[in-house]
Amino acid sequence: MLTDDFGREVTGVRISLTDRCNFDCVYCHNEGLGDTRGPMDPQDDEMSADDVVRFLEVVEEFGVDSVKFTGGEPMLRQDLEEIIERTPDSMEVSLTTNGTFLPGRAEDLVDAGLERVNVSQDALDPEDFAAVTQSGAYEKVLEGVQAAVDAGLDPVKLNMVVFEHTAGYVPEMVDHVAENDGLQLQLIEYMPELTGRPEWNIDIQRVHDWLAERAVEIEHREMHDRKRYWVGGSEDDESRSALDESDLGMVEIVDPVENPTFCANCHRVRVTHEGYLKGCLNRSDDLRPMGEMTKPEIREAYREVVANRVPYYGEYMVKNDDDEWEINDDYIEDYAEV
Ligand code: 5AD
Ligand code: SF4
Repeated sequence: MLTDDFGREVTGVRISLTDRCNFDCVYCHNEGLGDTRGPMDPQDDEMSADDVVRFLEVVEEFGVDSVKFTGGEPMLRQDLEEIIERTPDSMEVSLTTNGTFLPGRAEDLVDAGLERVNVSQDALDPEDFAAVTQSGAYEKVLEGVQAAVDAGLDPVKLNMVVFEHTAGYVPEMVDHVAENDGLQLQLIEYMPELTGRPEWNIDIQRVHDWLAERAVEIEHREMHDRKRYWVGGSEDDESRSALDESDLGMVEIVDPVENPTFCANCHRVRVTHEGYLKGCLNRSDDLRPMGEMTKPEIREAYREVVANRVPYYGEYMVKNDDDEWEINDDYIEDYAEV
């Protein structure tokens, strides 16, 4: 296992398989690339299945034991099943998808080796959903979530980005997972950079406070410094505190910007759809794309990227005189001494 200068072991990789998407979510940062979405047809800038597998074989040597495939919309890749099938057996495979292509394909993915899925669902009302995703595929997404549950993926996590448009939908989404077995909810703090609309940001602490009231039980996971809120019944159900544990749904908040130790717990390296390795979602490492590299070169590039990994949010960074973020050297020294 490789460890960076901040003591963070790299145990997972997150690979964008395409930047194409059939949705156009208003908040989308397109895996850190910003609004660069290209045409919907297959593009020759995408990594081939061979490139992806070669990379996975290299990082397996370094003890990486999980891979998350993402996009754009990764299910636009017709070879997704093949890629999952060819992923080294030692790795846990997960997928982040908008869900529209899960009906009819969820089972094939599971047969190929998929173990976990996150489906983006930001609203329960079809019109609200359409406004956020700029798509009319609401019914397909619901079918997709059901297809994932039926295919045996457990839990199926719903991803909801919480920002100005969606903050009001949090209570109904929480009720939804409280009432439906097999579903969990991940509330994701809006990342204002790269979307061009920083004013849509809201204070995620308000959501923590609201959930603390709503939850029957709160579990604090030291390792990722994340809280899990267990919810049951409906918000106004007086008897909900007497619910059995098996009746509870789980809600997690992913808050990279506001949680000061989020980046300290980041154990993932990223790969863009074009095959560029990145130590952090919000940074670029300027190496050659994977398709042009041999296995020994990928090994070296991977070592270099891990060695250069720097946390992005939190107290590692300070603003300089020009109001730009810079690495806080003092903090790094402190950290290195620990
Ligand atoms: N802020 C936070 N999360 C985002 N995602 C996309 N754009 C943003 C953003 N601006 C995440 C969502 C979505 C996944 C594909 O990427 O979780 O479900
Ligand atoms: Fe972006 Fe995902 Fe929405 Fe597609 S479904 S636009 S990739 S957030």
